[in-house]
Amino acid sequence: MTFVLFGATGDLAKRKIFPALYNLFLDGKMPDSFSIIGLGRREWSDQKFQTHVEESIRSFSRRIMEDNPKMNQFLHAFHYSAVDITDQQAYTTLLNDIQKQENELSIPENRLFYLSVAPDLVDTITANIKSSGLGSVNGWKRLIIEKPFGHDLASARTLNAKLSESFEEKEIYRIDHYLGKPMVQNLEALVSANPALEALWNRDHITNVQITASETVGVEERAGYYDRAGAIRDMVQNHLLQLIMMTAMHLPEDSDAEKVRAEKRKVMEYLRPLQKEDVEANVIRGQYGPGEILGAPAGGYLEEPGIEASSRNDTFIAARLWVDNDFWAGVPFYIRTGKRMKDKSTRIVIEFKHSGKVDAAPNLLTIDISPFEGVSFQLNMKNPFNNQIEPVVIDFSANSKDVPEAYELLLSDALRGNPTFFAHWKEVELSWEWVQPILDVFEEDKVPLHVYPAGSMGPDASQQLLKEDGFSWWDHV
Ligand code: BG6
Repeated sequence: MTFVLFGATGDLAKRKIFPALYNLFLDGKMPDSFSIIGLGRREWSDQKFQTHVEESIRSFSRRIMEDNPKMNQFLHAFHYSAVDITDQQAYTTLLNDIQKQENELSIPENRLFYLSVAPDLVDTITANIKSSGLGSVNGWKRLIIEKPFGHDLASARTLNAKLSESFEEKEIYRIDHYLGKPMVQNLEALVSANPALEALWNRDHITNVQITASETVGVEERAGYYDRAGAIRDMVQNHLLQLIMMTAMHLPEDSDAEKVRAEKRKVMEYLRPLQKEDVEANVIRGQYGPGEILGAPAGGYLEEPGIEASSRNDTFIAARLWVDNDFWAGVPFYIRTGKRMKDKSTRIVIEFKHSGKVDAAPNLLTIDISPFEGVSFQLNMKNPFNNQIEPVVIDFSANSKDVPEAYELLLSDALRGNPTFFAHWKEVELSWEWVQPILDVFEEDKVPLHVYPAGSMGPDASQQLLKEDGFSWWDHV
């Protein structure tokens, strides 16, 4: 297999892709013969590239083997080519190089193209892969593509139409790294392998579902991108809607990739569309102001370098959604995400119906996705000392340094041709369809922008959203 990495000198390659490939290699999960070709604008030699890859592994891999022969053997597979991505001729040269290697090293004609580049370069690259013949293979070809997949519904459709000229849907692996997180991949099994839970996984037993992805970081060095994207595009359209799909789907037995994706699509098809006039009542838009994070003063969004003082960008979103099918009708799904919040935490809390006993708390199933990984269940017990009913939490923690990282799981699946945990075009399109009215309303600046202090759990309006339905966010379970 030849792994062709566009954007090989970039940040994602350094932090995630090289360490993931290295760990797959150590685990014997790379194909028997492989070659990795890094492409970038800078004029690097193979030697320089290999040193860069080694450094990135030493800084970011969850495991380091001091066994030099293994590391050397791994690095030996890396080659570098400086290319101008818009130059068609460069692709023909690349094809010749790849074919030469395939012949010399008896590598089957299987080619994986990984696009870790600015979104506006994607269609040029895929068109050139096709026209140069790089994509005409005797084995398989696949395309891995990073977010953002479009800026809105129309641009996502245009992008997909362009990609479809060079790759078939089954060859396109759209990364949503939340789908690579072990606890997200575990959701499926958690429900379907536990009949006790499966029996309760519906509107008869669940009152509401709460999904939070809070971050302590601010806009960092990404002002140019983030100020145009906002939390709605950066987190909601992709990661949070994917978490809703993964939570709400009901899997048939013997589920394969296509069935899982079909069930996820069904969830999106039943997601109640938001009309523009409903946005204000169901979506809370926030932006962080000055505050304090972990005891240190933190500036507001408008003071961040590269952000205009007049920006109305959303750094926080909370929303109420409804999945109008037989399983979930009447059960609100609340989502919430923001920068510069109190904690870094992604978790799902399922609140079960109350028993009716006055002093009992509701049963809660909490799925911690990151950085803490675990599952806990809150039950009620009678305290023998005072005879009171009190909540107790039964806990399972999956935290271990040996747990593979999202990118390892995703790359391993892509290498094996398993698309289960990649976003199908239909999921992406339906997600944009749901989000589009919100984008329109934000664009027209028709709804309030609530300022929340850095270091908080977001604006009060987000608490209010749940209060209207008689609920509150479970932050301390
Ligand atoms: C990315 C967003 O997709 O996800 C970032 O672009 C965000 O803004 C990140 O910080 C969060 O990912 P994680 O894995 O740290 O929860």
